[in-house]
Amino acid sequence: MPYYIGADLGTSALKLILCDVNKNIVKIVTEEYDVYYPHHGWSEQNPVDWWNAFVSGVRKLINGIDKEKVSGIAVAGQMHGLVILDGEDKVIRPAILWNDSRCSKETDYLNNTVGKQNLSDFTANIAFAGFTAPKILWLQNNEKENFERIEKIMLPKDYINYCLTGVHSTDYSDASGTLLLDVKNRCWSQNMLEICGIKESRLPKLFESYEKIGSLKCDAAEQLGLSKNVFVAAGAGDNAGAAIGTGTVGEGKCNISVGTSGTVFISSEKFSMVPNNALHAFCHADGGYHLMGCMLSAASCNKWLCEEIFKTEDYSKEQSYITDDMLGNNSVYFLPYLMGERSPINDTDASGVFIGLRADTKRSDMLLAVLEGVAFAIRDSMETAKKSGICIKRSTVCGGGAKSELWLKIFANVLNIELDIPKTEQGPGYGAAILAMADGNKEKIISEPEIIRSVKPDRELSALYEKRYNKFIKLYPNIKNLYQELKEEI
Ligand code: XUL
Repeated sequence: MPYYIGADLGTSALKLILCDVNKNIVKIVTEEYDVYYPHHGWSEQNPVDWWNAFVSGVRKLINGIDKEKVSGIAVAGQMHGLVILDGEDKVIRPAILWNDSRCSKETDYLNNTVGKQNLSDFTANIAFAGFTAPKILWLQNNEKENFERIEKIMLPKDYINYCLTGVHSTDYSDASGTLLLDVKNRCWSQNMLEICGIKESRLPKLFESYEKIGSLKCDAAEQLGLSKNVFVAAGAGDNAGAAIGTGTVGEGKCNISVGTSGTVFISSEKFSMVPNNALHAFCHADGGYHLMGCMLSAASCNKWLCEEIFKTEDYSKEQSYITDDMLGNNSVYFLPYLMGERSPINDTDASGVFIGLRADTKRSDMLLAVLEGVAFAIRDSMETAKKSGICIKRSTVCGGGAKSELWLKIFANVLNIELDIPKTEQGPGYGAAILAMADGNKEKIISEPEIIRSVKPDRELSALYEKRYNKFIKLYPNIKNLYQELKEEI
């Protein structure tokens, strides 16, 4: 019976999943690596760290199984990151990640000088600091020497695929987040290439996520301990991968991912955009399209509070002090903008805020405020979808945050929708395994993963959260101008 490897190249870690041909998860291995914040608002990783994690993780994953039975690999990866290689295939500088906010000038140039309407006509999207095109402009403006050495531009998961196969490839879902793709027509936008001053030959070849890009190079096969007949599928951006893993394919389904970032992902068969490009309009890994809202710090807010401030890694113990009667009655609010924010406020200067602290505030009140603040910010994207005429009645949930019963209850009541919990919270990695399993065949990626249970909102609690959400949405507009003043002090 063949095995398939699905990888989730995340921001905090690489998660590798070994699946059998019946889509059962046989083993999971996690390898962590560092994120570097060399300046205020910068966020970088070393692509070579990703590859080293991949090699050591795969070796652990296949330890004890018949390696000849591993048939295919696919990777779903953190989106938008800029990876650049020189003529000798050397990484020129650390990758600039999706949650890096250094490109505010370049983003303003794209949105205001090139113009949002033009960007939207060329790509179906407007510019956000995290997207890839502003990063390319930033390099031109700030690291000319590095810019001139660029031979190949790629996204994070495509670097792994390049090390595996030697094929310079990407898939449509991930390419959508570059702001260089004409999303509707599934091709690179010549207008955007001209605006960014790059030749198409520097960009990867485009594939559908389930298509095979090649098989393992001899040296990669040797390093991994696998046969060189193992094929590699193009893979996907992590959100499209998670959508495949949670069955969010075809028309009108929704998945919420609570990982380092938090996203609301709405699948559609046909291309569509919403007014003012308030949601990203991207290609899906199922050959269709999707709309998406993305907040930059979701489960990472919980990690930050617990690990950096409370100095504990025992998240569930910390949450056990939050009793049912505290839900909906918290006087503390938290704005979860630890890395600035993308959807819907698009503000790189925004930062995290606690408000409502009193002498009797306990650490459990602060933790609850963080869990609620993230749920409120996800609701912001839901509200954007609603205003655009999209009605979401239920959703799957995946990502690290989906492991917490308490957080799921808060999400269901803040969003006032029913949440379906898939058997595995490993959305992107599981989705990638399904892409590999498809063996190049689109029909095989349409899967209905097992839903183990649903979390329903409670009428009284959701009414309490409705009131709190209405207060939450007043906070940012009142603080907005202060962020600018604070920034000038740095
Ligand atoms: C999506 C986005 C994030 C990253 C995180 O637009 O920026 O979800 O993909 O992994």
